[in-house]
Amino acid sequence: MALIAPSVLSADFLNLSCDIHMINESQADWFHLDVMDGRFVPNISFGLPVISAIKREAKKTLDVHLMIEEPGKYAEDFKKAGADILSVHIEACPHLHRNLQQIRSLGMKAGVAINPHTPVQLMFDILQDTDVVCMMSVNPGFGGQKFIQQTIEKIMILKAEINRRGLSTLIEIDGGVTIENAREIVQAGADVLVAGNTVFSTENPSETIALLKALTS
Ligand code: DX5
Ligand code: ZN
Repeated sequence: MALIAPSVLSADFLNLSCDIHMINESQADWFHLDVMDGRFVPNISFGLPVISAIKREAKKTLDVHLMIEEPGKYAEDFKKAGADILSVHIEACPHLHRNLQQIRSLGMKAGVAINPHTPVQLMFDILQDTDVVCMMSVNPGFGGQKFIQQTIEKIMILKAEINRRGLSTLIEIDGGVTIENAREIVQAGADVLVAGNTVFSTENPSETIALLKALTS
């Protein structure tokens, strides 16, 4: 059964407390929190104060996805804000190994996010230092985009390498996950599904989370 991580980017920011409560009570496993700086990606979302506020109510793992340049400068701040998993982009980190060591030494799980055009093989030499690979299945920056089908092959290649090496690195798929494609993504080897639009655009988000969960069992 896959883990489900609703993306708070698609929540109602005016009633955030309500949506946090809904996720707490649902079958969701993690909170997925997208931080954007307007430089690494062409959008600006939310940052540290919002994550600290969410932490006060959230009863589940906070999975923070940094779409920012120079993420190492802020790793400690995100730990203080309450991040349990901190993902940095491979494309933003010339010294990725150092970033991952820093994240782990701060007591968080280390994640690496990888853009759709980046060959998944670039992850191979850093896999043993990575707890979660956040594989982008859309171009990062916005919710509600269409799943890039080529991701399926990338998942299979990465999963085979993780298994071959006997590692426990999780594969998280981020972007365009729907009721229609969830099963195919998990069958390819995904362990965690991020879902923003699919969860929050429905009348009953909690039911949609349960449906995603059931589809992936
Ligand atoms: C995109 C973000 C995603 C986004 C996913 O840059 O990293 O986490 O919220 O949203 P959906 O599920 O709507 O594609
Ligand atoms: Zn994300």
